[in-house]
Amino acid sequence: MAPQCSHCRVAMAVACFVAVLALCAAPAYGARAVPRVSGSAQQSTNASAADEFLAPHNQARAAVSVAPLRWSADLAAAAARTASRQQRQGACAFADMGGSPYGANQGWASYRARPGEVVAAWVAQGQYYTHANNTCAAGQQCGTYTQVVWRRTAEVGCAQATCATGATLTLCLYNPHGNVQGESPY
Ligand SMILES: *[C@@H]1O[C@H](CO)[C@@H](O)[C@H](O)[C@H]1NC(C)=O
Ligand SMILES: *[C@@H]1O[C@H](CO)[C@@H](O)[C@H](O)[C@H]1NC(C)=O
Repeated sequence: MAPQCSHCRVAMAVACFVAVLALCAAPAYGARAVPRVSGSAQQSTNASAADEFLAPHNQARAAVSVAPLRWSADLAAAAARTASRQQRQGACAFADMGGSPYGANQGWASYRARPGEVVAAWVAQGQYYTHANNTCAAGQQCGTYTQVVWRRTAEVGCAQATCATGATLTLCLYNPHGNVQGESPY
């Protein structure tokens, strides 16, 4: 597979009136243990927002005969903490998820993006992915898609932060993480 962006330094300069949606997957993982999430911070997503994230994930998984994910309130709370920290201290840029035990898909939109359209943009990377040889087309990224459909991933939790500029930062966390180097997602 093509290497994934390792630290998500996607340019976020926004031209006037041009809507931009930038994507980022956590770097590929070597094998390592995944601790449990603990703590219970405030949720920033309600049941219908959860479904807006979950349904398109599970549609993409069903399309390749992979079992559905279940929603994790703990992962959603962890995602909310990270997204709100990025919003307060990080100028709403992508979080560096390189040290996280979880898979992480991020989306940054220059506008108030709905959960469903962010997940759709991740899933759309699948057009560049060839399962037969587990390869991403040259010059493309497939990591957000392969995390969405990663068979061993069982649960997901997501959150969004609305930034001062009206932009939206979206973060989904996945447990166990996907995108293990050299492995096929399904
Ligand atoms: C729940 O989430 C949905 C989808 O994001 C949103 O439209 C709705 O306003 C939210 N409801 C509450 C009570 O926060
Ligand atoms: C993988 O398969 C696709 C579709 O057949 C092909 O275009 C691509 O060159 C292949 N990549 C490698 C590394 O074999």
